Amino acid sequence: MLKLEDYIRTIPDHPKPGIMFRDITPLLASRVAFNVAIDKMVSGVTYEGLDAVAGIDARGFIFGAAVASALGLGFIPVRKKGKLPGKIISEDYDLEYGKDSLEVSVDDVEAGQRVMLIDDLIATGGTALAALKLLRRCEVEVVSAAFVVDLPDLGGADKLKAAGCPVSVLIG
Ligand code: PRP
Ligand code: ADE
Repeated sequence: MLKLEDYIRTIPDHPKPGIMFRDITPLLASRVAFNVAIDKMVSGVTYEGLDAVAGIDARGFIFGAAVASALGLGFIPVRKKGKLPGKIISEDYDLEYGKDSLEVSVDDVEAGQRVMLIDDLIATGGTALAALKLLRRCEVEVVSAAFVVDLPDLGGADKLKAAGCPVSVLIG
């Protein structure tokens, strides 16, 4: 049986010394592994009453848009700073190897919408928590979050659960 973890490559010291970088590009490049990952993300959660899928820039766009399309839903991009036009809200955050800011266009979301949040990987959870905060500031209900890879030693999935967001992961 196909094991998704066989398609994640570990690169030591990228992008900084001391970081064990989990590279998803072999999984993306595999027709079989990529589609198994999308199928699992689609089948692992109850999607009843879901209005949209939100994905985090940039790797979360790949999985989030594929899941949204498979479910016949729209896609909300949670983008890195300075990319979205119009009226936006921002959150600064720390991640495993740096600092960044995420933004949401307030015109892309509606209060009361039920949304699933998707990213490729959760490590410290700084990124996912910033996305959760942004969506909640827009009064969007984040019903769950899904990731291909969890690095449990870094505690991000536990932080997200403690913030009231159910989490599912494929590898971790
Ligand atoms: C990576 C990954 C997650 C985040 C997880 O994104 O895709 O979004 O780090 O780390 P954390 O749980 O410690 O916050 P990165 O900022 O490298 O951006 P990219 O998707 O543009 O490569
Ligand atoms: N994002 C945060 N930490 C990461 C890691 N170790 N590998 C890949 N992406 C990451």
